[in-house]
Amino acid sequence: MLAARRTSTFTESVIREMTRIAQMHEAVNLAQGFPDFPMPEPLKDAACAAIQGNINQYAVTWGSANLRIAISEKYRRWYNMEVDPDREVTVTCGATEAMASVFMALMDPGDEVIVLEPFYENYGPDAILAGATPVFVPFERPNWTLDADRLRKAFNKRTKAIVVNTPHNPTGRVLTRAEMSLISELCLKYDVWAITDEIYEHIRYAGEHHVMATWPEMRERTITISGLSKTFSCTGWRLGYAIAPPAQTAPIRKVHDFLTVGAPAPLQAAGAVGLAFDADYFNHLALDYRARRHVLVEALTEAGFTFSVPEGAYYILADFSELSDLDDVTFAKWMTQEIGVATVPGSSFYHDRELGRKLVRFAFCKKFDTLRRAADRLAEVRQKA
Ligand SMILES: Cc1ncc(COP(=O)(O)O)c(C=O)c1O
Repeated sequence: MLAARRTSTFTESVIREMTRIAQMHEAVNLAQGFPDFPMPEPLKDAACAAIQGNINQYAVTWGSANLRIAISEKYRRWYNMEVDPDREVTVTCGATEAMASVFMALMDPGDEVIVLEPFYENYGPDAILAGATPVFVPFERPNWTLDADRLRKAFNKRTKAIVVNTPHNPTGRVLTRAEMSLISELCLKYDVWAITDEIYEHIRYAGEHHVMATWPEMRERTITISGLSKTFSCTGWRLGYAIAPPAQTAPIRKVHDFLTVGAPAPLQAAGAVGLAFDADYFNHLALDYRARRHVLVEALTEAGFTFSVPEGAYYILADFSELSDLDDVTFAKWMTQEIGVATVPGSSFYHDRELGRKLVRFAFCKKFDTLRRAADRLAEVRQKA
């Protein structure tokens, strides 16, 4: 029996494959985008207390009231944005599930969704699962900027949504006011949804975090997606959320209910504690990542990679053309086996795989020790390549 046609273009995550090879060769794993250091103690304590306090049954399907209120307060405090916790917030199993639920709630077959590439690898499959067609627009090299003409050309009467990820994985771009204005102008002109992925909102080294929903006239046509994975170094907790106007929140909640029923109840209780942390926590998070970025920037520069220094998130997408004639997949495997540093081949972030053939992505959400070990090994690339 054959599997459903909709799965035929899905490939196994290259990132997981690289991790497997990394384990085989005891390589330093800079492929996967999750921290190898512990999450904040107060959140762990709050989760244990919630379990001991018998918060172990299903929460309200769209999220426990405490967490929804904490999310709403966060938006007021950080972005001066009013969010109704009862009618506009859906707590999901990670931003990943939020994105899938939003796509399934809003898209019909034949709808087009604009995805900027390179992209986080779930967006294309999300569109396909929802029966929509992804339309890809590449960022312009070398600095991963948006080309206004190219973006304009992608919009048409079939366009239903655009996915806007800032700070951006894998390029590290933080979209500028001008780029956000261009996107909002086109969304308004073509009556299109902006579906934002703001999971790295608190991990920034330059620029401002622009929340599309606070843009003039955009509140009614933006779905804001974010989560706790990156901000609190707890990618395994699977806590995310979608903020949408009430008319769209209703179908998003229905899809979410049928997909997962709800996110883990005790962890939702703990998540509310984290969101109420004061500004120091969030500022420290960004400063800490800035220092980690510095270690990897130095190491990659000395090793001979070329790249633009990330403005946000915790990745460096580096060009290895000056070091090797190999393609990205072969180079990444060679790096893992011969140098002992695992990366992600650039083509896995592109629909047009050729665009990523000379790129690999390094993640720096790692202990300083891990990064220094990687740096020592990277010093050998030029010699061995
Ligand atoms: C851009 C982007 N969105 C979403 C996610 C996943 O978020 P979550 O853990 O909340 O599902 C990631 C994880 O790497 C990501 O890079």
